[in-house]
Amino acid sequence: MSQYILNLLPVREEEKGEFEAIAPDAVHVYAGRRTVTPEQLEKATIIFGWPRPREMKNARSLQWFQTMWAGTEEYEGMLPDGILFTCSAGTNSRSVAEHMLASLMAVCRRLPTYRDSQRAHRWEDEGTMKTILGGTVLVLGAGHVGSDFAGMCQNLGARTVGFKRTVRGAVPGFDQVYTMEELDRWLPQADVVALALPHSSETVGIMDERRLRLMKRDAVLLNAGRGSALDQEALVRVMGEGHLWGAALDVTEPEPLPQDSPLWDVPNLLLTPHVAGGMRLEITRRACIKLAQDNLRRYLAGEPLVNQVK
Ligand code: GLV
Repeated sequence: MSQYILNLLPVREEEKGEFEAIAPDAVHVYAGRRTVTPEQLEKATIIFGWPRPREMKNARSLQWFQTMWAGTEEYEGMLPDGILFTCSAGTNSRSVAEHMLASLMAVCRRLPTYRDSQRAHRWEDEGTMKTILGGTVLVLGAGHVGSDFAGMCQNLGARTVGFKRTVRGAVPGFDQVYTMEELDRWLPQADVVALALPHSSETVGIMDERRLRLMKRDAVLLNAGRGSALDQEALVRVMGEGHLWGAALDVTEPEPLPQDSPLWDVPNLLLTPHVAGGMRLEITRRACIKLAQDNLRRYLAGEPLVNQVK
């Protein structure tokens, strides 16, 4: 049976030609998340991109779906049974890691406070700053994002310690890697604790009040994985008592963050609306397209796919 490939990725004209050269016998249909029709979803045997999860029930002919997201939880329970499901983990790791580093530096240098002063036309020295030189950076989640971010911190002179579910050897960017069971003994030594975790039953609430209180009073917390890993109410409470130097969150639970959330007003807490990754850098877009093309080649050759989720 010839394939019907519904391509919802942001592809350029020449990239369409590349997809068509890989699968010359397939029907190639290009659409956007908003312009895709129920008929296209119904006919698709392969989908690339980010269809709305609730629309996936229309994909009755589907055999394989590759999402452009690294995290896959929004499609859980939404996909037809028995299909192949792959994700784009790794394609946005440079982008997310740079965002983590930028927000870490901003918080260390009190830039959120200086920006508030600028808006109020106030020339005021806020005192001491922090450096990560010689400090200890813990990263929860030693996947693509965690590893890229750790490597950046290592280059800036920090000791980097990664935590993951199972340890099978060294991970680039980390001086040491441990299982999550070792986390509590490291938290009191950390200058920075960075969360780069997916959403799963094992990660929900992993950074709870007890763990936040194990951190040093002048440590920095970052979250660029999923909001569910952090107990946000506990963070507001703990920071309200002057515990922690600052925090930067690119992800919250829920998203968008409700207008009345107390998180908006925590001093030296930098909030960004889940923009660390996505298609905001050309290198991310290109990596996503390339992964889809590589996997299409593998799929047609009957080879195992990269980033198989199920
Ligand atoms: C971003 O959050 C992603 O999962 O790709």
